[in-house]
Amino acid sequence: MHVTLYMAMSVNGFIADNDDNEDFLSHDGWDAFVELAEKAGVFMIGRKTYEVVLEKYKDYGFMDVNADRIIVTSDENFTSPDNFRVVHSPKEAVQLAESLGHKQALLTGGATLNSAFMEDDLINDVILNVEPAIVGQGKSLFAPSNFARRLLFKSVDNRGDGILQLHYEVGEVLG
Ligand SMILES: NC(=O)c1ccc[n+]([C@@H]2O[C@H](COP(=O)([O-])OP(=O)(O)OC[C@H]3O[C@@H](n4cnc5c(N)ncnc54)[C@H](OP(=O)(O)O)[C@@H]3O)[C@@H](O)[C@H]2O)c1
Repeated sequence: MHVTLYMAMSVNGFIADNDDNEDFLSHDGWDAFVELAEKAGVFMIGRKTYEVVLEKYKDYGFMDVNADRIIVTSDENFTSPDNFRVVHSPKEAVQLAESLGHKQALLTGGATLNSAFMEDDLINDVILNVEPAIVGQGKSLFAPSNFARRLLFKSVDNRGDGILQLHYEVGEVLG
């Protein structure tokens, strides 16, 4: 299984503000997610991201994405109302994606789940939409965690409006 992490972020690495608003990011962040999720055929998100999008971004329909959908939560009683599959760890998410016949899967946040995947060494490459904004505080690409990895540059794509899409392969463990 090949897992790609995709996220949109400010130049200084924030993916949302402290109230989970992403209004400093453009619609291209969502468009790029849909492109990559449909290419992979399956995407995986944290329970919090699922709830934030449902609550704050009603126009951004996860159900419109033509891909399998997986939510990760530690809550054994969590039930999803709309055709998501629910698992309880990053490893289980990857195993489920494999069992559905996928060879690639897209991980798309949030910060906590990204770190959990990185700690379990489950991310093969990273695609970042770097948006022309800087914000003073908020949620980072990764929640605080104990990993350090080299990234190997693959490409950069100018998506217009000052948005650069960076693509890296995850390399050796550092330190
Ligand atoms: N800019 C972007 O591209 C982008 C993309 C996605 C999200 N976001 C933003 O990111 C923010 C959400 O990030 P977040 O860090 O607060 O939450 P999150 O990573 O979306 O979800 C965290 C939750 O996922 C579950 N989880 C995480 N690791 C787990 C593990 N190892 N095992 C089992 N369950 C696990 C837990 O759910 P339970 O508590 O239910 O156990 C945890 O509370 C929101 O503001 C969202 O808008 C931005």
